[in-house]
Formats: sequence, C-alpha cells, structure tokens
Amino acid sequence: QAERAVLKERIRRLLKERGAVLVAHYYVDPDIQDLAEETGGCVSDSLEMARFGRDHPAKTLVVAGVRFMGETAKILSPEKRVLMPDLDATCSLDLGCPADEFAAFCDAHPDRTVVVYANTSAAVKARADWMVTSSIGLQIVAHLHAQGKKILWAPDKHLGSYIQKQTGADMLLWQGSCLVHDEFKGIELELLKREHPHAKVLVHPESPAAVVALADVVGSTSQMIAAAQTLDAQEFIVATDNGILHKMRLAAPGKRFIEAPTSGNSATCKSCAHCPWMAMNGLQNLADVLENGGNEIHVDPAIGKLAVRSIDRMLDFAA
Ligand code: 13P
Ligand code: SF4
Repeated sequence: QAERAVLKERIRRLLKERGAVLVAHYYVDPDIQDLAEETGGCVSDSLEMARFGRDHPAKTLVVAGVRFMGETAKILSPEKRVLMPDLDATCSLDLGCPADEFAAFCDAHPDRTVVVYANTSAAVKARADWMVTSSIGLQIVAHLHAQGKKILWAPDKHLGSYIQKQTGADMLLWQGSCLVHDEFKGIELELLKREHPHAKVLVHPESPAAVVALADVVGSTSQMIAAAQTLDAQEFIVATDNGILHKMRLAAPGKRFIEAPTSGNSATCKSCAHCPWMAMNGLQNLADVLENGGNEIHVDPAIGKLAVRSIDRMLDFAA
C-alpha cells in the first residue's frame, strides 16, 4: 500500500512536469482511474475517451486502456504524443479481425456500408465508412438503415446481432467476440436473478444474446454506470468487466453490485470477468512510461488519414 502511494505521488508529479494528461478506461486498475480524475484527465467509455483526448489541449496523452484506444487518440490528434503503459495491451476483437482478411470481406460485398466497432486496428478503421462505439452503434445503424443502407459489420458478432435485432437492419456480421463478455452465461444468470428477485440486470452488448435477453439495461460502460445511478433499485447484477465496479460503487454509494456469472473454467481465460489486456495497465509501468517517454503509439500517417474519416463521422453524429 505504501509502495502504491509512492508510485501515485510520482505519477502526479510526472504528469505535471511532462504537461501530460491521463485518459483511462473503466476497466483499468482503480488507482489509475482515480488518478485520471483527480489530475484533470478522464475515466470513461471508448467514445468519451476519444472525444476527451481530441479536445484536451495537452501535447502528451497517456492512454490507460488497450491499444485501439491509444491508436484512436493518435489518429484524432496526430500532432500529439500518445503514450501507453504497455503497447502489448490488445483486444480479442482486434486480434480476430486482421486487416487483410477484413479487406477481402469488404471487397466481396461492395454494395454494403462498412461499419466497424472501435475495437479494431487503425488499418481496419481505414477500410470502414463508419466507426462506432457501444454507446452509439445502435443509433448510427438505425440512421443508416433508415436511409436504406445495407450494412457490413465487424468484428463483434454479439454486438452486431443485438443491433440487428433492435434496428431490423440488413447486417452481414463478422464473427468476432470479446473473450471477457463471451464468458457470461444466460442459464446461470437466470438462476442468480431468482436469488435476487429485486436486482436490476445491467449488460454490456458484447455479451451473448441469452445474457442480453435478461437485461434491464443494455449499454456501454458509461451507460451502465448512469443506469446504476438513476434506476430505482438497491441491487444490480453487472455483466461486464469487473473493473467497472469501482466507479459504479463511487457513483451509486450504498447500492449493491453483484458480478454476473461466467463459466469460470474456460481454457481461454483465468479471471473471466476481467480483461487480461486491460490488466496490463499498472502503476509501475504508467510511472515508467511518464519518466522515460517510451511506449509511444505510432500510426502510419497514410492509414491515419483514411481512418480518421470513419471516426470523425461518428463524432460528428454524436455531437
Ligand atoms: P465501452 O466503449 O462500452 O467502454 O467498451 C469498450 C470495451 O472494450 C468493452 O469491452
Ligand atoms: Fe477487448 Fe473484451 Fe478486453 Fe474490451 S474487455 S478490450 S472488448 S477483450
């Protein structure tokens, strides 16, 4: 604990000295989330992280999250230095959607508007017409559907089929998934709900359909936190990365949060409801990156120029 306090103090000092701002996701270490807020940075979902990084005047952004978040920040602000505690912090959705295979998929369906989730590489975003995050994907697809557009969607199959069901849009889906959310189980959740009949169920749309079907609220991480604050309930079952519980407890003090059940013994994950790549963000490597300036995100400017169009479309739509 004393060691963590020393590291936190060092990070506060270095952020000031380097004129840097810390942009963190809700799934990272609670101490990093707190540091981001108290030093004038932000802790938020993917959409707000992108907007905050773009609009903040600091010349150096330190992104505590996963690689696609750092890349999005760099694409939106190529003139800024974007650092990350660990450049190997990736995402199963990004890994499962290689740019060359994705380009071939798009080439095979030239009549479709290409909509990609934020959790993709810069090269995949460069091939897209639109990038969306979980907080706004549904509205954007509804908007495109109303214009009569057919959609090619990648990479998350659960988010894609949730949006497809809600909007009725014609969507061709890439078959990717998040290794954290894919582990939530409908049957076990049903049983847990019976034990807590008054609990409201908050679900991230990267979860399987059987889990989404049991939700009182389906939404991005920010939308789930807002629901925990505003819904008239004292108990909540939460189906997303358990890193979010820190902020939920701060935002809705006195309420009780229960983690939704996972299969728990999958070969693909050890701690199923916590993203192994988000967990790579620690106080030590955050302090080191500020001290030494390593782990800088670079995006090929030609790719960045193409990718920024799909991100800007979303940000303009959201404005
Ligand atoms: P949000 O945009 O809802 O924060 O989701 C990002 C993510 O990676 C969820 O797993
Ligand atoms: Fe990717 Fe899932 Fe981790 Fe989010 S929680 S970064 S979607 S692997």
